[in-house]
Amino acid sequence: MAPIAAVRGTHDILPAQAHAWEWLHRTHERVAGGFGYRPVETPVLEHTELFERGVGAGTDVVDKEMYTFTDAGGRSLTLRPEGTAGVVRAVMAAHLLDATRPLRLRYAGPMFRRERPQKGRHRQFHQLGIECLGDPAPHLDVEVIEVGVRFLEAVGLHGVSIQVNSLGDRDDRARFRAALVAHYTPLRDRLCEDCRRRLAVNPLRLLDCKRDADLAEGAPRLADLLGAASERHFAEVLAGLEDAGIASTRNHRLVRGLDYYCHTTFELWHTSLRGAQNALAGGGRYDGLAEELGFPGTPGVGYAIGMERLLSLLAEEGAGPASLPAAAAVVCSLAPAQGLAAAACARGLRAAGVATVLDAADRKLGAKLRAAASLGARWAVLVGEVEVATGAVALKDLATQEQETVPAGRLAARLRGGVEDAAG
Ligand code: HAM
Repeated sequence: MAPIAAVRGTHDILPAQAHAWEWLHRTHERVAGGFGYRPVETPVLEHTELFERGVGAGTDVVDKEMYTFTDAGGRSLTLRPEGTAGVVRAVMAAHLLDATRPLRLRYAGPMFRRERPQKGRHRQFHQLGIECLGDPAPHLDVEVIEVGVRFLEAVGLHGVSIQVNSLGDRDDRARFRAALVAHYTPLRDRLCEDCRRRLAVNPLRLLDCKRDADLAEGAPRLADLLGAASERHFAEVLAGLEDAGIASTRNHRLVRGLDYYCHTTFELWHTSLRGAQNALAGGGRYDGLAEELGFPGTPGVGYAIGMERLLSLLAEEGAGPASLPAAAAVVCSLAPAQGLAAAACARGLRAAGVATVLDAADRKLGAKLRAAASLGARWAVLVGEVEVATGAVALKDLATQEQETVPAGRLAARLRGGVEDAAG
């Protein structure tokens, strides 16, 4: 029988990466938490309609990439392809804005898109995100971008460029859509198959097609069609970014792949991410989303960062956290007869706050010491016949290979001292 493999486009976070993974979560928590963003969790499973109406029929995400199925009750359900629509639904349904406005939330979790798997593109991937709801003020667009930038600084990533654009309001986009259709319709026969479809259903997306990039030359620019209010909003965002010392690049072709955006959109790019995977993070304002979902109109702005892309960049740059030992000490019984004594010794160490692994296996001491070293432990505590008889243990420093005898009652203090010395 063939062994069962992981589903294509999914991956395991094995212990070697899991430490960095948890560290990313903690760092995001600390940085976003420092701006007042509180945690929220929403279900992975949502009604398909949430994304059809929120993200938009006509987007690649909704039309081609969702994992959608009909459950036994005949309901169409979808594994969430992104987190924003679910957060807005949750906030609006629970009337959270009645008490706090703006409401600052952060989240982390898996998202699912049936894309062609390749480096930096998975079918189950993970995002760290924030959403700021209930206030249309441009300084909050700046804040959201700043949280992302400060987070990437905190994890030690260099070489990030901030691409920004404005999609204006609904009227601006309607004018822009008409201008794009007028530009592209005569070029229809030269468009790729996807873009011919986009011309009919989602003309804005024509601008970020990689294959038809040459046809975008000379295309109308939304910047030239923005109304006065949209211009003012965007000018305030740019001024706010400058004031925060955040350098950004205006990218007229940045339209983003989800339909809910208006006004500010942005992406954080990294020089070593290429092609379709160049965005490490994306976000923007979505003042019309709540209404699309059937709730009262409520402004919002947020971002999501791809954890897999970020981790692989950090690994390439040699950044990231130092690896952590699984435990400070491994207590080894020298023979099965000392198994219980070794277990009691390990229990005592843990109770005294020393992370301890018990190795009571019936195998040679050499194998136990190699296993202890592979866990990154500093100490091996050897419990043999003599030790049990004398009430002492043999303590081996795995870094220096020095060994000493320590009375059992003084062991925890000795190890804690060692751990503290090592922490320096
Ligand atoms: P998005 O641009 O679709 O935005 O995704 C954000 C980030 O998720 C991307 O920049 C990328 O790092 C990561 N990502 C997306 N698809 C994949 C994939 N197939 N494999 C690996 N990583 C991927 C959103 O999802 C919006 N909800 C962001 C947002 C929040 N806008 C406002 N608030």
